[in-house]
Amino acid sequence: MGKERKIWLNGEMIPEENATVNVMSHAFTRGAAIFEIFGVHKTPDGPAAFRMDDHLKRFEKSIELLDMELPRSINEIKQAAIDCVKTNNIEDVFVRIMAYHSGESYSTVPPDGDLDILILAFSFDPFRGGMNKPVSACISKWRKLHPQTVPVECKVSGNYVNGMMSSLDAKKRGFGLGIMLDTQGFLAELSTASIFIVKDGVLMTSPLGTILSSVSRRTVIAVARAEGIEVIEKAIRADEILDADEIFSSSTALKVWSVNRIEDRDIEDAPGPVSTQLSRTISGICSGSDERFKDWLTLMK
Ligand SMILES: Cc1ncc(COP(=O)(O)O)c(C=O)c1O
Repeated sequence: MGKERKIWLNGEMIPEENATVNVMSHAFTRGAAIFEIFGVHKTPDGPAAFRMDDHLKRFEKSIELLDMELPRSINEIKQAAIDCVKTNNIEDVFVRIMAYHSGESYSTVPPDGDLDILILAFSFDPFRGGMNKPVSACISKWRKLHPQTVPVECKVSGNYVNGMMSSLDAKKRGFGLGIMLDTQGFLAELSTASIFIVKDGVLMTSPLGTILSSVSRRTVIAVARAEGIEVIEKAIRADEILDADEIFSSSTALKVWSVNRIEDRDIEDAPGPVSTQLSRTISGICSGSDERFKDWLTLMK
């Protein structure tokens, strides 16, 4: 796929294999590459992006948090993303937008000059491979980065070593997911997803502050409230996670993903009723069959 795929780089659509990165670039050596990912799904009216404007707002926020400046308008970037999906002619895709300093740099201070902007549209399928079945999870020994050490609300490559360590820890212990607590010992999030628990029919998740402002987290909360499910955002202790009736993650990539074992406890009949209801409703919204949330879709034309 990579060979045939066209990517958008600084205003031009080029074969992916022609896009290269300088090994001494600031982005490569310091990890200061901003990125954003949103999904484009098949609907009866044609492919439509899910909450594209919210993702682009977060992209702008990440740029601001790292004191960077976008060399192009956000509308230009939005149109380029649409063009990239149309050029590659694939439905059900992720769109990845990146902004980074591509020039040679020997300093931690970013070099002067414009950011490069890259947009890539790629199929969901290789990524998903079996990831829609319930999964086991553990509480990772690694804590979520403290918000006073780096801006945790920024989607920047360097921050992801934290999630990588928790995923490796989970893998070594034989689990699918590693849930990170914050440095105070309360639930934070996964490497690339938010976490929800359900107890006695009430849906709970960690508050903003130590976690990414996730678009799917906002979606789950809004949809749950619209469906009459009580939602509480609060500091959640590890023992509440271990004792939950249902646990699921939410992310752009995998939407609602149910947990069927937490540490040494099996969660019977996962996905449970709340996870199942939310998962079904959100799939319906993404595929354009739920009139209540049609505003969240942007047609690719
Ligand atoms: C650290 C982190 N938390 C949560 C999420 C889920 O965010 P979203 O729903 O916006 O995809 C992501 C997504 O990449 C992430 O990287």
